[in-house]
Amino acid sequence: MSRRIGISMLGCGTVGLPLFRMLANREQDFSVRCVVVGNPEQAKYDVIRTAGGVKLISSSEYDERNGQDIAGDSETDIVVEVIGGSGGSEGDPFAKTRERLLQVIRAGKHVVTANKTVLSSWGTEIFAAADDAGVNVGFEASVAGSIPVIRLLREHWRGQPIRKIMGIMNGTCNYILSSMPGYSQPGAALPDAAKLGKEVSAESYANASNPAMLWALDHAKVAGLAEADPSFDVDGHDAAQKLSILASIAFHTAVQPTEENIPRSSILPISLEDLTLVHKLGFVIKPLAVAEKKGNDIELRVHPCLVKQNHPLANVTGAYNAIYIESEPIKGVTEGFASQLYYGQGAGGEATATALFSDVMEIQQRIQNGVVSNPSYYCSDKKFNIVSCDDQVSPGYIKSVSKDEPGVFMRKTVILYGETESDRIDIHQIYNLHELRDGDLVPDVITIGPTPFGTVRRALGRFTDEGVSVEEPLFLRIEN
Ligand SMILES: NC(=O)c1ccc[n+]([C@@H]2O[C@H](COP(=O)([O-])OP(=O)(O)OC[C@H]3O[C@@H](n4cnc5c(N)ncnc54)[C@H](OP(=O)(O)O)[C@@H]3O)[C@@H](O)[C@H]2O)c1
Repeated sequence: MSRRIGISMLGCGTVGLPLFRMLANREQDFSVRCVVVGNPEQAKYDVIRTAGGVKLISSSEYDERNGQDIAGDSETDIVVEVIGGSGGSEGDPFAKTRERLLQVIRAGKHVVTANKTVLSSWGTEIFAAADDAGVNVGFEASVAGSIPVIRLLREHWRGQPIRKIMGIMNGTCNYILSSMPGYSQPGAALPDAAKLGKEVSAESYANASNPAMLWALDHAKVAGLAEADPSFDVDGHDAAQKLSILASIAFHTAVQPTEENIPRSSILPISLEDLTLVHKLGFVIKPLAVAEKKGNDIELRVHPCLVKQNHPLANVTGAYNAIYIESEPIKGVTEGFASQLYYGQGAGGEATATALFSDVMEIQQRIQNGVVSNPSYYCSDKKFNIVSCDDQVSPGYIKSVSKDEPGVFMRKTVILYGETESDRIDIHQIYNLHELRDGDLVPDVITIGPTPFGTVRRALGRFTDEGVSVEEPLFLRIEN
C-alpha cells in the first residue's frame, strides 16, 4: 500500500486555498505539514486552522528559522510554491522566491510551482538544481491555468518536431479587446465606481483619448482581471514569460523572456475604430503570443495581431485562453503537419489549483516509482538562433490618419515603395475610410505582404517625419 505524501506550502492565497481544500479532501493520500503565509491571523486561513495538524506560520517566522520548518522537515515530500513575488526586494521581488525554491530543492524536496516569472527567468538553474538533488519540479500551473499545455508538449508532442505555437495566453488582454465593442452599445454600463476606487461618468470616458479601451480596462479591474497598474498584462510581459516557458520546452532551447528575445507591443493603442476597421476587412484583433521555427531560427513575439474572422482563435473571447500547436512534417515519414487547439480558463484560483493538484498527483506517482523526470534539455545550450525583432517577417496592416487633401495617399505609397530594393514593401490593399471620422482627418488602411519589421519601422518613421500621418501610425501583424 502506498504511503501518504507530506506536502508543505509556500503561500496560500487565491490559488493556494483551493489547492489546500483539494489536498485536505484527499487525506488518505496527502498530509499537509506546514503552510507559510504573509499574515496567518487572517480569517481566510480559518480553513487551515480548523483542519488541524497543520503548522501555519508567517513568512517572518519562517525566515527567522532559515526555512527549516520545511527544508528540515523529513516528512515533507513536496513543496507547493504559490507566493508569487511577495517578500523580495523592490528591485527584484522574485529573487527571494527563487532562493526559497532552491533551498527546498537542495534539501531534497520535490517542488510544484505556479510561478511563471521565476521559471522563465531562472528555469535553467532550478531544473539543474532539481536534477542534482534527484527531485521533480512540476510547473503546469505556470502557463494557461487549466489548459495542461506543458504536459501536452512534454508527452503528446514529444516525438513531433514543433513548427509553431500560437495562443491567447493573457486572459486580461483578451477580455479587454473582446469587451471594447460594448462601449458603443446603447445603455453600456459604467464600471462600479466603488470597486474601482475612482469617480466614473459617461463624460470622463467620452473625453479620454481612447474611451473604449479605458472603459474596458476599468471593467477588467472591477472583475478582478486587471491590477491597479495593468502594465504587466497589457504591455505583454505576462504573455512573454509564458511563451518563453513553452518555447523552451518545444524547441529545447532555454529562452529568456527579454524584450530582445521576445519583442512585444501593448494592446493600449488599439481603439474601437481599429476594431471596427479590421472587422470591415474580415479580421479580428487578438492578443497573441507566437513562437515559430523557421529553419534553424525561432521567432518569438507577443503582439495584438489580426486573425481572420473564421480562424479558431478569433472566437476565443472574454478571459479565456487558447493555444494552437502545429508540428512540421517529418522528412520521408509524414507528408503533412499535425495541429491541435486547446481551450480553457487561463487563470482563476480553482482553475489554476487543478493544474497544481494534477502536478502533485503526478509527483506522488513518481515518488512511488522512484522516477525523476525534469525537462533537463531546458538547461542545454541554444539549439536555435533567436530572430531579432527587426528581422521578423510577417504580413501586416498599417493604419495612419491624414488630412483629407490631394496627394497624401500617393506620398504614403511612395514611402512604402522605398528608395532601394531592400526597402520595398509589397502593398496588398488600400482602404480609405472617410465614413469613420467627421472633419478633415481621414484614417486609411494599407495591408502589406510579408515584410521584415525593420523595413516597416523605417517606413512608418518616415510617415511621421514627413507629416503624411498626423497620428502615430499603427502597425499590426497579420497571423494566418
Ligand atoms: N491568481 C491566479 O489566477 C493565478 C493564475 C496562474 C498563476 N498564478 C500564480 O500563482 C502564484 C500565487 O498567486 P495568487 O493569486 O494565489 O496570489 P495571492 O492571492 O496574492 O496569494 C499569495 C500568498 O502568498 C502569501 N505570502 C505573501 N508574502 C509571503 C511571503 N513573504 N512568504 C510566504 N508567503 C507569502 C500570501 O499571504 P498573505 O495574504 O497572508 O499576505 C498569500 O497566502 C503567483 O506566482 C501567480 O503568478 C496565479
